Amino acid sequence: MAEKKLYLQRFSVFQRLIHLLVILSFLTLAITGMALKFAMEPWAQWISQMAGGFVVLGALHRFCALITFFYFFLTLILIRNKWRESGKGFWRFMFDPEGLMPGMNDLREIGGSFRWFFGGERPKYGHWTYWEKFDFLAVFWGIAVIGGSGLALWFPVQLGRVIPGWWLNIATIIHSDEALLAAGFIFTIHFYNTHMRMKKFPMDPVIFVGTISLEELKEERPREYEQLKADGSLEKLLTDKAPEPWLKKLAFTFGLFVVSTGTILIVAIIVTMYQHLS
Ligand code: HEM
Repeated sequence: MAEKKLYLQRFSVFQRLIHLLVILSFLTLAITGMALKFAMEPWAQWISQMAGGFVVLGALHRFCALITFFYFFLTLILIRNKWRESGKGFWRFMFDPEGLMPGMNDLREIGGSFRWFFGGERPKYGHWTYWEKFDFLAVFWGIAVIGGSGLALWFPVQLGRVIPGWWLNIATIIHSDEALLAAGFIFTIHFYNTHMRMKKFPMDPVIFVGTISLEELKEERPREYEQLKADGSLEKLLTDKAPEPWLKKLAFTFGLFVVSTGTILIVAIIVTMYQHLS
């Protein structure tokens, strides 16, 4: 008799909802922001016409900034809930190898990954890999730098009452360049790490469907698999309920739309910047 395929919950509904808000707001912020930054380019004018003008783009940009602050707040709640569930002290929860902050073990895994690229053995990654921890932390400094400078651009008059006006010029440069870096990173490295890698291409739907198969866990996160087996929690976490086919289909369609939109935007930006250089 064929063995039943088993699955394990990786992301809760709350985590998936937060990530959906991140995707929708970040993609819209990047499209509207870049159209404002490159407003003289034909592709930016096309985006503006589609949306109903540059004023609409500015309004959409501000609305998605509010969603960004909202999901930042939800992320803090998520961390607090996970910490309480763990029963560990806060710093231990954050800094142990299965926590969200990078530590010595991640440094070793970075070295191990490079050896693996050149024919060595694949590191035994755990619940979060070093690049996933980096992506997670990027939300925090991204919001501090882009969000802080964005608020300065949003409320220039109020800000001008407390600090010299030339700070606004600096805020524009910081906002614009950090946004370019963030969009460049998400639409190339993050997309490659999650969806374009061999075995994942063209899409890893886990962040939408929430579960991964037991084989994926064993192969990709062997340290987590061994730990769950050793402390006896693996059995309790496993289910034979496969992700609903409609949800998988929706995840693929939506995910591919987002990945291709981000890729097209980044190509438009690179071509524009290259044209301005030459
Ligand atoms: C999260 C909080 C954010 C706030 C409060 C914010 C706010 C603003 C504001 C008020 C402007 C001026 C818009 C106008 O002229 O009508 C602006 C411009 C811009 N934003 Fe944001 N923004 C945020 C996030 C982002 C993100 C995540 C990106 C891209 C990844 C981004 C990219 C841009 C760009 C490229 C511009 C044009 C800058 C220029 O003219 O050079 N913003 N933002």
